[in-house]
Amino acid sequence: MDSRSTFDSPSGFNRRQFLGASLGAVSALALGGFVRPAQAASPIVLPALPYADSALAPVISANTLGFHYGKHHKAYVDNLNKLVAGSELADLSLEQIIAKVMGKADKTAIFNNAAQAWNHTFYWYSLRPNGGGEPPAALKARIEASFGSVDALKKELAQAALTQFGSGWAWLVADGKALKVVKTGNADMPQAQGYTPLLTLDVWEHAYYLDYQNRRGDYVNAVLDKLINWEFALKNLG
Ligand code: FE2
Repeated sequence: MDSRSTFDSPSGFNRRQFLGASLGAVSALALGGFVRPAQAASPIVLPALPYADSALAPVISANTLGFHYGKHHKAYVDNLNKLVAGSELADLSLEQIIAKVMGKADKTAIFNNAAQAWNHTFYWYSLRPNGGGEPPAALKARIEASFGSVDALKKELAQAALTQFGSGWAWLVADGKALKVVKTGNADMPQAQGYTPLLTLDVWEHAYYLDYQNRRGDYVNAVLDKLINWEFALKNLG
């Protein structure tokens, strides 16, 4: 199966859903429609991984992926469903929930679990077996216009990942015509700052500790060289 057919597999996360235009009130947040199609109803569903647990080994082991997806990601989805059960948020999509609670001090727990549910699905698609290498030409041109070279972008992404204090995420984003690297802490997402996410790297310790212990830089560089899904970034550019 090639990468395109993997990406377009019936996992609830295909390109049509991701680029879905009918997001209504949440479109301004550029959250995308990929985690749950509009017709889905409560509860929020844990989307299938787009590859097998072992598909990213040896860079990310099946053990790490199994715990990360099956325990951590699942826990965010399960916690979210418990938190919204019986409330006015219960029948909303994941993106709608995020849009409703973002920035509200009394809804922090709901935001954290909803954003982590969204961020993790985006992360799975930011990686692919036999990834890395040269970006597609159209993306490469945009990268070179903003960063000078693909290597310069990779260095900036690695630096953002390494310097994110504690848990969080490093992102390649679009800011209008320009591409940028940003980092967010804990569950935060770049849509809150008006950016369109293109790729992300999870730098919570649970993403790498079983395989790399404290060597976050080794994990990040290996992912950038061997797993990063440039095609996904290009699709997200629209
Ligand atoms: Fe994670």
